[in-house]
Amino acid sequence: MSADPRTLGWLNRALAHELSAVQQLLAQSVLARRWGDEALSKGLRHEATEELAHAELLMERLILMGVSPAAQPLSVARLGRNADELLLANRGLELEAIRIYKEALLHANRVRDTETASLMASILDEEKQHLVQLDAVIQGKSRSG
Ligand SMILES: [Fe+2]
Ligand SMILES: [Fe+2]
Repeated sequence: MSADPRTLGWLNRALAHELSAVQQLLAQSVLARRWGDEALSKGLRHEATEELAHAELLMERLILMGVSPAAQPLSVARLGRNADELLLANRGLELEAIRIYKEALLHANRVRDTETASLMASILDEEKQHLVQLDAVIQGKSRSG
């Protein structure tokens, strides 16, 4: 299959998003550890590994399509002054991921690239789950004050 340049563009855009997410979540994990909040730090680090796994899948797809991964630029990591601000910044990350994967999926379907489409659809599902989980944490925190 000859690689469609716009499909490659979406794969690299998604990859840049995932690597930016890893940067933000790991940086927040470091920050949370400095606050002495080990549970938050561990949770953020775990989320970073989930986004890293997405980056790996996108890289695999790019390599199978015969090109080197070329994600750029990375976004500046959004930090915060407390756990609530970190969670809010990460909610933005998940919303952005959902927007990217929805558009990437539409494009892959349009050009009838079923393998890329199924990858985009499966990562999209996981990003939607991330948002649901994050909202549950945010609501739980606001209930407990
Ligand atoms: Fe992701
Ligand atoms: Fe995510």
